[in-house]
Amino acid sequence: MGKHKVIFDTDPGVDDALALYYLVRHPQVQLVGVTTVFGNAPVAVTTRNARFLLRSWGVTVPVHAGAAQSLTPDMPTEDFPVHIHGQNGLGNIDIPEQPVDEPDSAAQFMIDQIRANPGQIRILAVGRMTNLARALQMAPDIADLVGDVVIMGGAFRVPGNITPAAEANIWGDPLAADMVFGADWHVTAIPLDLTTRTLITRRELQAIAATGGAGMQLVADLSQDYISFYGQAGYDGMVIHDCCAAVFLTDPELFRLIHGQVRVLWQGIGLGLTIMNPRDRKGPDAEWADLPLQAYGADGDTDAILSRIAKICGGE
Ligand code: BDR
Ligand code: CA
Repeated sequence: MGKHKVIFDTDPGVDDALALYYLVRHPQVQLVGVTTVFGNAPVAVTTRNARFLLRSWGVTVPVHAGAAQSLTPDMPTEDFPVHIHGQNGLGNIDIPEQPVDEPDSAAQFMIDQIRANPGQIRILAVGRMTNLARALQMAPDIADLVGDVVIMGGAFRVPGNITPAAEANIWGDPLAADMVFGADWHVTAIPLDLTTRTLITRRELQAIAATGGAGMQLVADLSQDYISFYGQAGYDGMVIHDCCAAVFLTDPELFRLIHGQVRVLWQGIGLGLTIMNPRDRKGPDAEWADLPLQAYGADGDTDAILSRIAKICGGE
């Protein structure tokens, strides 16, 4: 089998950094490019962070800045989770470069790559779905041409992490997420249902860094405050949301999926709520009529998922 041709759409972001390291280390992944979006920090910062990480690891791939704000009306634009990801989006480690505003080219990059590689590009989106939704708006034909879309996002049978209803990536642009789930392409969501059960303890992270070299040590260093935040929230380690989705991309057999049609609420008290109409459900379905079947990872072999990460990121 050829390598997975991946565009990584991201808002680095501490768990984004681990996911990116997993992708650049994985022998079966060809990272075609990185696109950035606002979310864990403003887009100028997430773009700077993506470039900083790749340069630190000696990896050369195109980086394209993307959306600075949500497609959903009346969403806050200046509300960043600095208490989780740090003031600089990467756990307050020293970063020599300053953020600079760059042209918004992420959606066009996705379109160009999908058209140039019909059926081959796999999008892994681990931030807000804004770039993807804009690419769909600009070029609806890409739905037929993309390989598939994997996202980290949603909370289907568990509470959200930003409101009782909503997971952060979906909450940040629920209208975009509703467009992405409603398009006629294959979307698999790896939601909080599973990601909050995939944890790496501080000790395990250090063990991976001890064998993974300087690149992985950088990831471990920038993760320390994030682990402390999750510790205070009652978790025994680093919740590896985005890297869990990256493992789905390479090792889907480790995951149990539920299939159905997905809507996202983008107004009111349930803003950002992800609701699936399971494909075996009987009953009225006017709200779901004509929507494509998508999937979410309801469960998985969490030990095996963590072992894959340790093997890829901790390998010599
Ligand atoms: C998601 O929100 C972001 O803060 C993380 O990077 C992850 O993508 C988890 O809800
Ligand atoms: Ca993220």
